[in-house]
Amino acid sequence: TENTALAGVRVVITAGPTREPIDPVRYISNHSSGKMGYALAMAARQAGAEVTLVSGPVNLTAPAGVRVHTVVTAADMLAQASAAVDDGCDIFIATAAVADYRPATCADQKIKKSAEDMALALVRNPDTLATIAARPDAPFTVGFAAETTDVAHYANDKMQRKKLNMIVANDVSCPGVGFNSDDNAVTVFWPGGQQAFATESKAGLAVRLVELISERFRGS
Ligand code: PMT
Repeated sequence: TENTALAGVRVVITAGPTREPIDPVRYISNHSSGKMGYALAMAARQAGAEVTLVSGPVNLTAPAGVRVHTVVTAADMLAQASAAVDDGCDIFIATAAVADYRPATCADQKIKKSAEDMALALVRNPDTLATIAARPDAPFTVGFAAETTDVAHYANDKMQRKKLNMIVANDVSCPGVGFNSDDNAVTVFWPGGQQAFATESKAGLAVRLVELISERFRGS
């Protein structure tokens, strides 16, 4: 039977890493591949949603029928995600691994090798998810949390601080799941409940997550 759990629902998903330039040839980034976000986009689309992906630099092809806005930096991600929400958004899912800090300045020319030591001054980046969740017209918001210790504690803390409806926590210290792998294992938290999902492919997990998110969205 056709899956219509999210028929006509507008879903915006952030995915992948951001890159924060140091000079014309270097940047700060992380190991996010975009696989989790793209899998969710595919699952939401298959559930009938109108899906927009706001994606950092990744080597993935957008699922059929999904609109993609590509971005590079955390500042771009905030701008593109905000524009996508302005266009209409019922559910916002943030899977992107956004750089928390960027170099205070980006050098115009390639930085030359000289002294034995060098320091890079960093400044805080804007938080896309927290900004979207704080809007007066905030959609139903789902955050991700990549933690290496006290996963439940930090995930619940992030959900409360950023005023989210749900948070999906991955323990990225477990081998074979999280950043860049094909599989993931997560625990989802919401005010008053939680559900654990054992290791499986990101594609399979995305289908279950979309099911749970639709249930909670409908009940909200
Ligand atoms: O891309 P893959 O290789 O498939 O890997 C998937 C993943 C491990 C990246 C993904 O499952 C995941 O956990 N994403 C969140 C990664 C993360 O670093 O989260 P965080 O704890 O820094 O941030 C918490 C939440 O706020 C996230 O929803 C994040 O998207 C959002 N955020 C954070 C900082 C920022 N400046 N803007 C944000 O929107």
